[in-house]
Amino acid sequence: MSIFNPVLFKGKVALVTGGATGIGRAITQELLTLGCTVVIASRKEDRLREAVQELCPNGSQLRAKVCNIRKEDQVKNLVVSTLRELGRIDHLVNNGGGQFPSPVAHMNLKGWNAVVETNLTGTFLMCKEVYDQWMKDNGGVIVNIIADMFRGLPMMAHTGAARAGVDNLTKSLAVEWAADGVRINCVAPGSSIYSPTAAANYGDDSIFERGRAGIPAKRLGTPQEVASAVCFLLSPGASYISGETLKVDGGGSLYSYLMFEIPEHKKLPAYTWTYKPPEDDDEEPPKSKL
Ligand code: ADE
Repeated sequence: MSIFNPVLFKGKVALVTGGATGIGRAITQELLTLGCTVVIASRKEDRLREAVQELCPNGSQLRAKVCNIRKEDQVKNLVVSTLRELGRIDHLVNNGGGQFPSPVAHMNLKGWNAVVETNLTGTFLMCKEVYDQWMKDNGGVIVNIIADMFRGLPMMAHTGAARAGVDNLTKSLAVEWAADGVRINCVAPGSSIYSPTAAANYGDDSIFERGRAGIPAKRLGTPQEVASAVCFLLSPGASYISGETLKVDGGGSLYSYLMFEIPEHKKLPAYTWTYKPPEDDDEEPPKSKL
């Protein structure tokens, strides 16, 4: 069940990276419900096959394509073959991404680069290719899925930095591509959106329960609630919104959703100094150099 008009996206084509699992799968499902034809892209063929089987067993409204968004030639082929088969790309949802939890102290350059290449460079490649091959001449709408990294993202610094990059890229493209009829926005799911894929990524379910206490909504969020925000931004209802980022977090970013517990320590003592007044009180105070 969707809250939107069931023919909202009839006749439209959407390309959703990472569309087979977690939040991406909920987005795919919502788009299908609203009449859209959807192409999901992922590196993993088995995930794609399973998603098609579950979401659209006859396969007519849902296509699956293997693509590593880090590879420019694969991204090109994905867009070429989508346009050859379906003739248009109205919507691009850049949801494909990945990271591993780690403090920066234990990250190496290879791990850092892998996460930045997937989340930032992969999104850049997808936007650029869809724009070059279709949206430059036909317009369209792009939604980039980022994360609630606005106050830093301890234990996930690589993806926080990459997603902040996507947030800023989105604003630049909203200006550069407006004259071509392209709108582009971000959706930032809070860390409190629960999906089995996210839980597997953290390797720990309890992290979600710990954070729940500080969320004004007093509950975890669902991938479907992220999908609603994405479909709103893709829809004509958002026709005057571009370069914006919509948080879907139950108000958690306003208050205190703490994923990372700061250990007790005394390593940042206050700076202590004592002021000694001059012995002769009539003495002129030194003039500030500023
Ligand atoms: N999802 C996570 N990593 C991905 C990648 N490199 N390509 C496509 N989808 C992905």
